[in-house]
Amino acid sequence: MVSVRVWVDYVKAAAFAARSDLGVSRINQSAVHHARHLACRKRLCALEFRFIRRTMPKSKRYQPKTKRKTVESVRTLIPRAQIQRRIAEMAEEIRRDFPTEPLHLVGVLKGSVFFLTDLARQISGDISLDFIAVSSYGNRTETSGEVKLTRDLDSSIEGKTVIVVEDILDTGMTLQYLLRVFEQRKPRRIRVAVLLDKPERRIAKVRGDYVGFTIPNEFVVGYGLDYAERYRNLADVGVLTLGAKEEKS
Ligand code: IMP
Ligand code: MG
Repeated sequence: MVSVRVWVDYVKAAAFAARSDLGVSRINQSAVHHARHLACRKRLCALEFRFIRRTMPKSKRYQPKTKRKTVESVRTLIPRAQIQRRIAEMAEEIRRDFPTEPLHLVGVLKGSVFFLTDLARQISGDISLDFIAVSSYGNRTETSGEVKLTRDLDSSIEGKTVIVVEDILDTGMTLQYLLRVFEQRKPRRIRVAVLLDKPERRIAKVRGDYVGFTIPNEFVVGYGLDYAERYRNLADVGVLTLGAKEEKS
């Protein structure tokens, strides 16, 4: 009896023989020959495999690799509508404190971009914008404590009423560094607007004059805030959870 497998091989071999331009009688001969040959090779392979499995020490056998896959999730902490409502209130507070003065908003790149653009559009009257960039975080969720100026302002702040616009006040090291730099440049007044404040983590003695939301000690992303440059484009602010699970590759 020809088994199904051998039969399949027979058909394959017949097709092969046909493709190879053999005569009709030669096709049958060649096909049978191929089918037998393949079936024999398969049986030998199976035997060989069983033998290797029995004789090879366990440690040397093929082990499927396990990969550590990071599973990230974001849980909404502050929804977009709430952020927008609070920004409108902050804009009013700022204008109430400086009813007639032109205001110079200095955004700290990159985290403050969405906050700054929304805040600027809610403040009535005369305002101008500038940006500064510092780096205090690598691709991790913990600060290095070291602040570096990576992009300076375009224009002088001397004699201006400056509102420093920051995404989040965490340890306060960044803001402390920036305030030192700005104060040397003799602004008329300097105030700080932050969207989020994590007071539990504070190391430096700094505070925001205008604070959007006080949040618990969690790593947050969205609305400009990133984790390794990702999640900035989320419209809500959310808590990022990093987990790891073992996965077979
Ligand atoms: P600080 O110097 O520790 O106050 O950190 C300020 C900077 O760290 C912020 O401008 C953010 O870019 C970043 N940062 C602090 N906490 C978070 C967070 O929870 N999510 C994302 N970025 C953060
Ligand atoms: Mg950041």
